[in-house]
Amino acid sequence: MKQPNFIAPSILSADFAKLGEEVDNVLVAGADIVHFDVMDNHFVPNLTFGPMICQSLRDYGITAPIDVHLMVDPVDDLAQSFIKAGADLISFHPEASKHVHRSIHAIKDQGCKAGLVFNPATPLHILENVIEELDLILIMSVNPGFGGQSFIHSSLDKISQVRKMIDDSGKDIRLEVDGGINNETISLASAAGADTFVAGSAIFNTDNYEQTITTLRSKIV
Ligand code: DX5
Ligand code: ZN
Repeated sequence: MKQPNFIAPSILSADFAKLGEEVDNVLVAGADIVHFDVMDNHFVPNLTFGPMICQSLRDYGITAPIDVHLMVDPVDDLAQSFIKAGADLISFHPEASKHVHRSIHAIKDQGCKAGLVFNPATPLHILENVIEELDLILIMSVNPGFGGQSFIHSSLDKISQVRKMIDDSGKDIRLEVDGGINNETISLASAAGADTFVAGSAIFNTDNYEQTITTLRSKIV
């Protein structure tokens, strides 16, 4: 079943020199959850931030849910560090874990929500065996590693397939889309069945976050 629509700003596009303030501002402006992109320059060709930044946001006073997107290999130890640092949801790419079912449960056993992420070329069949264990499924609409890329339209078909799998499972699983989300593509992704929308450059590269997020939300169908 479709969950209430969430707008998840990706802090990858925020001004890191004032990250706490930026996160506060997008939450005051109407964001629902904070998307936290972790890149290790191994699984993806870029390097971002670790658990200490997540902990700093918590220490700064951020209480909103933090949605950690792990683009790292291996997954398990970093996932545990992010749970200690205050993450509420951790998603990872199945290619980065030899034992996907074990990695999911290592996260859930700590009381944290777990998700799986699918790159544009990654098939969905692994879901047949683990969909019942998941709290979130993330469909990448760009190849991971950078903000500001263009939306890959073939991901719409994958979103529709996953929407059917979730509805057939009868479970409360969020369907997140990530990459190239803007006022046009958010309508397409929501029509295909997504309910959680990551947006980085479309939000942080604007002056009025409230207006931007209100407009994005108004385009959800
Ligand atoms: C890319 C990241 C995305 C990215 C989205 O690998 O996972 O979350 O920051 O940025 P935009 O919305 O600018 O495409
Ligand atoms: Zn992401």
